[in-house]
Amino acid sequence: MASFEPRVFSGIQPSGNLHLGNYLGAITKFVDLQSSYNCIFCVVDMHAITVWQDPEGLIRRTREVTAGFLASGIDPEKHIVFNQSQVPAHAQLAWVFNCVARMGWLSRMTQFKDKAGKNRENVSSGLFAYPNLMSADILVYKATHVPVGEDQKQHLELARDTAQKFNIDYAERIAQLGYGVDNIDRDVTTDPELVFFPQPEPLIGGPAPRVMSLRDGGKKMSSSDASDKARINMTDDADTISQKIRKAKTDPEALPSEVAGLEGRAEASNLVGIYAALSGLSKDDVLKEHGGSEFSKFKPALVELSLSKLSPITSEMRRLMDDPGHIDAVLKKGAEKADAIASPILDQVKDIVGFIR
Ligand code: TYM
Repeated sequence: MASFEPRVFSGIQPSGNLHLGNYLGAITKFVDLQSSYNCIFCVVDMHAITVWQDPEGLIRRTREVTAGFLASGIDPEKHIVFNQSQVPAHAQLAWVFNCVARMGWLSRMTQFKDKAGKNRENVSSGLFAYPNLMSADILVYKATHVPVGEDQKQHLELARDTAQKFNIDYAERIAQLGYGVDNIDRDVTTDPELVFFPQPEPLIGGPAPRVMSLRDGGKKMSSSDASDKARINMTDDADTISQKIRKAKTDPEALPSEVAGLEGRAEASNLVGIYAALSGLSKDDVLKEHGGSEFSKFKPALVELSLSKLSPITSEMRRLMDDPGHIDAVLKKGAEKADAIASPILDQVKDIVGFIR
């Protein structure tokens, strides 16, 4: 018997363009999970402003990510789609977590180190505390499963550590107030018998948990890459997608017939992974079909597959973005449903911590 009701939560930042990495690493999983879980999908606009965002651009990209969710097949009637800043409980729980998570934990986050670089003294304090807001996003719904790309794994571990520290720090109070649930999988040496927060489980997997740049197989595909040719944007037209794939960096060898043959061939491995994810096949199956092909033959096949999968989404996104009023209404309704789940949980957190309400 599970102690927590299974619930999926995940988020995407409306900073930069929605790209193929977001789609294959996250959105396709969101779509699949809808049939087996209650899901909450969030456009995390508060995370976006940890680095400067032009306000009009933020509004536009918040709508664009929402359009991407809907166009890909997320159902906002059966599940919840909203933007983070409309549900105040996220920021409120994040403050509590700022006081639970330790500086040392946050200092070890590789994403912070990468983003801050040598500019550490000059980045926003929000960028440093970013993972605490992410923990709050998940735990304010007591979400149990979190579909993400591989780059978010470390943040998920921090969310688990934060949930555990909160459960331990306030164990007595949680029991006294009757707010705990049985901690079935507990480690008896460290964990209390009753807990308030679950340990959210990352769902990372499939053939493309980390889609790489089309220009450099050692770098992940990212909206912050200076070169637009490094990524496929979900709003790119057919010609642009086709050109980007044809010009993608490769090596001179033909494709191997087994996955082991992709070892040390980052660019080849990436294109095979993209093909696999788009077609719903494993990398093995793709190589069974295309092993021995030169890139001059494989790339056109990848272009054709990409266009057949992405073009309907792109045109539906465009249609949706022409009606911002509809998108805003979806977000508002979603925020109301999200708030109805988050507020009672936040109220209990306040009681646990000792805030009068
Ligand atoms: P973000 O906005 O950078 O990316 C959104 C989702 O897309 C995945 N992703 C990728 N997957 C495979 N290959 C890539 N190249 C690639 N690039 C991005 C990310 O792993 C992510 O799943 N901190 C999060 C947003 C967030 C969140 C949360 C996620 C905020 N709160 C709570 C889950 C739960 C982020 O910046 O993702």
